[in-house]
Amino acid sequence: MEHISLAVIGGTGVYKLAQLDDVSSHQVDTRYGTPSGPIRVGTLLGRRVAFLARHGEGHSLPPHKINYRANLAALQQIGATRVLALNTVGGITEHFGPRVLACPDQLIDYTWGRISTLSEEPGSEVLHVDFGHPYTPLLRAKVLAAARVTGVRLHDGGCYGATQGPRLETNAEIARMRRDGCDLVGMTGMPEASLARELGLDYACLAIVANWAAGCGDGDEITMAEVLANVDAASAGLPELVGELARG
Ligand code: HPA
Repeated sequence: MEHISLAVIGGTGVYKLAQLDDVSSHQVDTRYGTPSGPIRVGTLLGRRVAFLARHGEGHSLPPHKINYRANLAALQQIGATRVLALNTVGGITEHFGPRVLACPDQLIDYTWGRISTLSEEPGSEVLHVDFGHPYTPLLRAKVLAAARVTGVRLHDGGCYGATQGPRLETNAEIARMRRDGCDLVGMTGMPEASLARELGLDYACLAIVANWAAGCGDGDEITMAEVLANVDAASAGLPELVGELARG
């Protein structure tokens, strides 16, 4: 098994990592089934980096149909121990407008009906992992340091609220999430983060704000075109940041 410095899971609008050289493609099977697509392993600024598109390469999987267990287990099987999750999100509170990049430090889970533990199979050990700090503090610190070194503006902290989707939220749902303390809203943050913890993977989230969440902006309809354009614009510095993170 080769050493993978960093695995990156791409979200909506991020289906590949620019500047990944010498790429090989891996179809990996796991005891939990097959991941969302092939894992691309390549070299980025001299380090081996793995990339997986969370929704599949043609964005064919809605958030509740993603096999989060297989995705993470597959990355672990090919040799990754650290995962940077890129998550496209809506912004709720004032610092999290469109095109902001954020490294959240907290999480509230509003999803339901997803397989959210490795302990699902009969006879498997029941795991009660500590999840007070849902993102690995040391990896978060390294993500923030990589952003500083590469000159990428990255907001330190924030609470990610994970919703079920695939529809966007109502204004009232977002108002409740704001009262709960959420700054960001996305559909794929859970159970990915807690499964990573169960698997013993270091895991941090880099959230890309694509739009104001429902009721937080000017009241205009949220469109996929707006989401994708903002993700594209906000992602320009990501390859350098990821390369720097893979080095450290
Ligand atoms: N809500 C949930 N998920 C999202 C949003 C949103 O407004 N924007 C991008 N992903």
